[in-house]
Amino acid sequence: MATNGSNGVEAPLNRADEAKELLTAIQSLIIPFIHSADEDAATKHTGHGLAILGGGPRTALVEHHPPQKLESILDLNVPKQGGGKEGLVEFVGMLLGYSVNTWDQGFMDKLYGSTNAVGLVSELLLATLNTNAHVYQVSPVLTLIEKHTTRFLAHLFGYASPHAGGISQPGGSASNSTAIAIARNTLYPSTKELGNGAHRFTIFTSAHSHYSIEKAAQMFGLGTRNVISVPVDEATGQMLPEELERLVKESKCRGETPFFVNATAGTTVLGSFDPFQSISTVCKVHNLWLHIDGSWGGSVVFNASYRSSRLKGAEWADSIAVTPHKMLGVPMTCSFLLGRDLRQFWGAMRLDAGYLFHTAATDVGEIYDLAELTPQCGRRADSLKMFLALQYYGQEYFSDFVARAYSNAEYFLSLLKANRNFVSISPEPLPCLQVCFYWSPGGKLGKDKEANGKVTADVAGGLIKRGFMIDFAPGELGKFFRVVVNGNTRRGTLEGLVKAVGEVAGELGY
Ligand SMILES: Cc1ncc(COP(=O)(O)O)c(C=O)c1O
Repeated sequence: MATNGSNGVEAPLNRADEAKELLTAIQSLIIPFIHSADEDAATKHTGHGLAILGGGPRTALVEHHPPQKLESILDLNVPKQGGGKEGLVEFVGMLLGYSVNTWDQGFMDKLYGSTNAVGLVSELLLATLNTNAHVYQVSPVLTLIEKHTTRFLAHLFGYASPHAGGISQPGGSASNSTAIAIARNTLYPSTKELGNGAHRFTIFTSAHSHYSIEKAAQMFGLGTRNVISVPVDEATGQMLPEELERLVKESKCRGETPFFVNATAGTTVLGSFDPFQSISTVCKVHNLWLHIDGSWGGSVVFNASYRSSRLKGAEWADSIAVTPHKMLGVPMTCSFLLGRDLRQFWGAMRLDAGYLFHTAATDVGEIYDLAELTPQCGRRADSLKMFLALQYYGQEYFSDFVARAYSNAEYFLSLLKANRNFVSISPEPLPCLQVCFYWSPGGKLGKDKEANGKVTADVAGGLIKRGFMIDFAPGELGKFFRVVVNGNTRRGTLEGLVKAVGEVAGELGY
């Protein structure tokens, strides 16, 4: 670390050397970490990941401990004197050793997977530049990258206007809540100054949608009671447009102000895509903002065939959230809120802050100070991660990646259906990349919700020691498994998972 010399001659900075030394040291831990997941992939078809030496049952995926035990293993106290490189290396060893290795094939738990080599590089570049993507002056290249990436995505979704584009947001929830604020401020501009006033605003979203819509209603003073849940078709999990219309009319009759409909492209649990065309007709009749939460399933837009089958009519939406960190291996976080007309974003979000924004309030030409469009002031330039992935792999790769992911999900479903001990509850054909099912020997699923849910939760817990992490969700017959695959999931992994579920269930006496 450089210090000032007492004779007034300042010591040279040696930050480059220091960065090199630390990066070299950390790289020697990161590469084996990724390598262990690659090695483990070769054994996954057996239904058990490689056992690795550790303080507990561990595979390349994780050595899992309850919080109190983990706290006793890790030294998380803040030292008075820094430990320097040696301390850092020691701690990073622990960090990697006890974290979930999402590069591992067995990680099929949540709606995201591992990143890839170019993802790693893009994060390093963002840290190197440490750019704030609020105004063009300090982030010239990254601002243009964000504008080009979002315009490219907006066009992929079918937005044809020259004013179409988008902004990056720190996650799908943020994209959804920003859409609500933009919708309200656009349709009811006086709310920017006066707040919700006498309006009792109502929002409509399917019974299967993500909780971020309700969370936003809490944050914006709308209240969760004013988020009206629209029933779904029982078999497909899709929002029923005629129910939407009925509920909008009822809301109006109560003197409320319906203003926002959230339709979902890829629901969190079943992966359903709502019927956007019919929903948009209802929105037009009642002057409602149509937003599509494509945080999960919106990424299928890269494949022409899935785009036309799953996203038909998406171009009629006023805004669309898409979150490439979930399906495409782009690092967390990378989410975009796309809009048919960015001038609406500007009108809805702009505030005078002369110390930061130096354009005139009336100037709504091409916007380069992107924080004028966003709730955030300081912004990480997350679009670089999608942009570099596209530069590195190209569009066709992502089209194939989506198709491969679907084919993997269908393969997994076929394994379950060929086995008498599983009951699948996913809609068919699979709308998205998650497969939902129960373990039920002989195909006879009991009616006891508690008992079914216990089997699911216990088996999911037991799978972790074998190098598989899968999640579960509540259902009418108790908790059921939800397995999420991606374009890199190998068929052997899926075969191994079927074996592992059966073996763990057997060991537990189910
Ligand atoms: C449909 C849907 N919307 C929104 C979100 C929230 O996204 P994030 O976790 O990036 O905030 C999720 C999360 O899985 C989701 O499934």
